[in-house]
Amino acid sequence: MNVEYTPKAATAAPLQLAQRSANLRSNAIRDMLKVAHQPGMIALGGGNPAKESFPVALMPRLMKDVMRRFSSNALQYCDTQGFPPLRQALADWLAQLQIAATPDNIVVTTGSQNALDLLGKLLIDEQSPVVVEQPTYLGALQAFSLFGPRWRYLDEDEEGPALQKLDALTAPARPGDRAPLVYVMPTFRNPSGKSWSAERTRQAAAVLRRHGNWVVEDDPYRLLTYDTSPSPPLKSSLPEQTIYIGSLSKVFAPGLRLGYCIVPDPLLPWLVKAKQGTDLNTGTLSQALAAEYIQSGRLNDNLPLLRAIYRDKRDALTDALARHLPGSFEFSIPKGGMFLWVKGPPGFDSDHFLSVAIAHGVFFVPGSAFFGDTLSEPMRQENARCMRLNFSGNDTDTLKRAAERLGKALKTCNL
Ligand SMILES: Cc1ncc(COP(=O)(O)O)c(C=O)c1O
Repeated sequence: MNVEYTPKAATAAPLQLAQRSANLRSNAIRDMLKVAHQPGMIALGGGNPAKESFPVALMPRLMKDVMRRFSSNALQYCDTQGFPPLRQALADWLAQLQIAATPDNIVVTTGSQNALDLLGKLLIDEQSPVVVEQPTYLGALQAFSLFGPRWRYLDEDEEGPALQKLDALTAPARPGDRAPLVYVMPTFRNPSGKSWSAERTRQAAAVLRRHGNWVVEDDPYRLLTYDTSPSPPLKSSLPEQTIYIGSLSKVFAPGLRLGYCIVPDPLLPWLVKAKQGTDLNTGTLSQALAAEYIQSGRLNDNLPLLRAIYRDKRDALTDALARHLPGSFEFSIPKGGMFLWVKGPPGFDSDHFLSVAIAHGVFFVPGSAFFGDTLSEPMRQENARCMRLNFSGNDTDTLKRAAERLGKALKTCNL
């Protein structure tokens, strides 16, 4: 007998999502990119590399070389851990930077953001403490938030983390408990542009060694240095506990979506397993292009140009801000990276000011975006005074106009 089944008509049900989706925060910068497309708007919000820094003219040649060298392998799936020729090229290249790595302890990721997500999956339980700098990279806050951590904030001075506070924050709550995860950017930090000194890096490593924390060192800006050489990475002083994350976004091209981690041995198979479930492997063709770009020396050849481009942009923006911002606004000139952290006078609220700035044709990211949600009220107010301004994505004339517009917008607020 033929039984016919007619499902009931669908009723509008509430959106059904996993509980953890309540932890998801939106990325203020990505949301704001919509504003960036308004005609005439100057975007100081995102962290886009300069388009003139990309090796556009070289790409057809690079692609030819890749096809000659790797043929169909460049179009095939590859090891989850990463395309072996890229892992080899990265290990050789990192050795020139005094960063110890082997093809066996590198994991290639889909941008460094992919590494942050995978590490969150492996290392953060609901309510487990995660120690971060304040302010910190908002993409890390976003990636880790999904897993429901409790944020703990480091105090830092001009040299790096305050050691006593670091010691207290990174100790396990009770003997036998897991030590908190630590996420830091010791070099040209996004958003503040600050770095740890070499001495403080070694001292911080000694503290962290005592407690056995896993430490995530996020280091995408090391090579974008304009005045001085950066201190050696924390990874060099604490290799057994540090997961070092690098990125090719800022020194090659973010559209290829390539990052990498140097991973302590016990964690490596776990990271690879987590990545298998996420994306099987990072795009092989991107990896093959990067292998060729690095190994042929072209990445290193392009670095002086990158540094010159960004030094000019930084100087253009800081000179113009010095002319146009009121004297009550302060910033220090970053020695590397892509960002300027500008602090207004007490009571200045950068969230509120953002809409005024947008009305004047310029936008930035307000300080409030760079903190987890458990910040104390005095710290919240302190950080609400700050704005992150990006100097890599616009030409120098546009940066000067942006500073002028900010100055005009502040005048309308009687500042
Ligand atoms: C500190 C930091 N970490 C990670 C990333 C993510 O970079 P990507 O995924 O392009 O490697 C960025 C991007 O701006 C960043 O500033």
